[in-house]
Amino acid sequence: MKLTVLNDVALIKGGAEARVAATPDTVAGYVKAGHDVTVVKDAGAKADFADKLYTDAGAKIAATNTAGVKTADLVLSITGGNEKLVAGMKKGAGITGVMSATDNPKFAEACAKAGVTAFALDYIPRISRAQSMDVLSSQSNLAGYRSVVEAGGIYGRAFPMMMTAAGTIAPAKCFIMGVGVAGLQAIATARRLGAVTTATDVRPATKEQVASLGAKFIAVENEEFKAAETAGGYAKQMSAEYQALQADLTASHIAKQDIVITTALIPGRKAPILVTKAMLDTMKPGSVLVDLAVERGGNVEGAKAGEIVTTKNGVHIVGHLNWPSRMASDASNMFARNIKNFLPLVTSDDGAYAPDWEDEIIKGCALTRDGAVVHERLTS
Ligand code: NAI
Repeated sequence: MKLTVLNDVALIKGGAEARVAATPDTVAGYVKAGHDVTVVKDAGAKADFADKLYTDAGAKIAATNTAGVKTADLVLSITGGNEKLVAGMKKGAGITGVMSATDNPKFAEACAKAGVTAFALDYIPRISRAQSMDVLSSQSNLAGYRSVVEAGGIYGRAFPMMMTAAGTIAPAKCFIMGVGVAGLQAIATARRLGAVTTATDVRPATKEQVASLGAKFIAVENEEFKAAETAGGYAKQMSAEYQALQADLTASHIAKQDIVITTALIPGRKAPILVTKAMLDTMKPGSVLVDLAVERGGNVEGAKAGEIVTTKNGVHIVGHLNWPSRMASDASNMFARNIKNFLPLVTSDDGAYAPDWEDEIIKGCALTRDGAVVHERLTS
């Protein structure tokens, strides 16, 4: 089939995207498998993959995204492109990406209108068989790591305890709120750096995971907590009573923390506020909070998307967007491998583009088919 690797960097204004959906390594594999691969000029430049590496791997270079997608059977993309771009694609072709489709229903409508199938990688069902295709996990893992490393860059002190001739440095106290994929990696990173690490979540399953990483678990462990996980493994929206108990516990703990990483999300809803302005006022000057949930409204009161805010008492709240893009090379490597593992589901035995519409992973992530929006999250 004809594969085109999109230049997502050029599509997203302001340099907010640096990743690429295929690396020279995965492209070499596609070429070896008999696919015809085109890479849009400079698609990997910001992720340390120059065009030459792609041509060495057997790809052709297209001058622009518009030119590159015209004849493609499948467009490999991080973002899924945009309405204008899919309008210029071949009828019957497909495009991949993290599409946040319910936030942007017009995109799926544009794909349907163009007769293009949108494969929303963020909707791939979280079943065991799909783990190797799970871009949410591969990218969140890196975001969790990076959040701690960047907090360390802003924090004016050291993470580990140091006993030197010039005196002793106390270890930093690091608190991770929300122990999903990002939170677990944040705990592991904070521990590796030598911080005294605590963590909280509303899902009971996380208690053991936190302990296994050598951190201390802190939570309101009442009856509601025991039932807070959905069948899909996600958190439920907690009651106002639970949230009040949780806030009391957080308030007393957070005043003693140096670094706080918040990652708490509830699917389809605004992120819960876990750190209030009153709590921020009790924190020490120089403390750093990283709000990974800022794109969904934020867990920290006063966090601003895309900015670092410093409060009157000298507490820094980091609200960067698109954390995986801040480590574009590894994030691209992971994303590209996720797509490589997804590709067999849209490829026939003789290498042609042929989505297996009966496969539950394809059913779970295809937003459109044959000119119509078909995904239940968009039609119900
Ligand atoms: P997420 O990004 O939706 O949420 C992050 C964390 O925030 C979750 O652990 C959630 O419980 C927590 N949270 C929500 N409200 C909170 C509150 N009020 N206070 C404190 N914490 C709160 O989660 P993510 O990272 O997507 O993982 C969700 C689940 O999916 C986990 O159980 C994970 O192990 C599972 N998973 C399964 C996979 C598979 O089987 N293929 C792949 C990846 C994740």
